Amino acid sequence: MEERLQKLLSRAGLGSRRTCDDLIVQGRVSVNGKIAVPGQKVDPQRDRVTVNGREIRLTEDDKIYIALYKPRRVLSTTQDEAARPTVRDLVPIPGHLYPVGRLDYDSEGLILLTNDGELTNKLTHPRYQHEKEYLVLVGRMPDEEQLAILRRGVVLEDGYRTAPAKVTVGENIPGKGTQLSIVLTEGRNHQVREMCARVGLPVLRLKRVRIGSLTLGRMKPKEWRHLTTNEVRELKALATQPSTHKPRRPPRQRR
Ligand code: URA
Repeated sequence: MEERLQKLLSRAGLGSRRTCDDLIVQGRVSVNGKIAVPGQKVDPQRDRVTVNGREIRLTEDDKIYIALYKPRRVLSTTQDEAARPTVRDLVPIPGHLYPVGRLDYDSEGLILLTNDGELTNKLTHPRYQHEKEYLVLVGRMPDEEQLAILRRGVVLEDGYRTAPAKVTVGENIPGKGTQLSIVLTEGRNHQVREMCARVGLPVLRLKRVRIGSLTLGRMKPKEWRHLTTNEVRELKALATQPSTHKPRRPPRQRR
């Protein structure tokens, strides 16, 4: 559907509509290789728009979907009373944007930010758990029994048994530890750290590299990017497949 160019540019985070109008008047915006004119309408699906020669990803509605590489020692909230840096500080585009789920302060890797409340609710609802993959550096080489427990399910401190996980042993770095890939289909607070601690594996580093089909790829700490239309479509599809895991309830507390 065609919409006014300055409105689409503003939605893509290039400033107010007035600022975007100025960009057009200054001849800095092109549509399909031709300098744009004020008032021009474009179709985000069909037209290729550049500003100062750089291609701009236009969206059809006002929803924003961003993949960010959260570095360690950054909070995955939008504000902090103690003024520590948050993921929101790393994405300087206007408007309300919220992280989907969380990564610990000392964890790093892929986190999604969006203003799409419906998708956020679905992706974080326990009923619709999807795969999340973590690269975990643990302080020692796990033995077969530790791996079997991690894979089968670990009973956490509150009595909850975790769903079966895919665990693959990667590189053993002498003097540093062993790299594991752990794929979970649920996301309880500090789950990977607690699972590893319960089987006696100290976590030295934890990086999320995948959420469903969305991967961190070659992004570096602090880098962010808009998701492609396909990536958004795939995430929305994930959020419609209910989980089959029936978690064991924590034991009742005695009065
Ligand atoms: N599991 C954890 O323990 N921490 C994270 O940050 C993410 C998953």
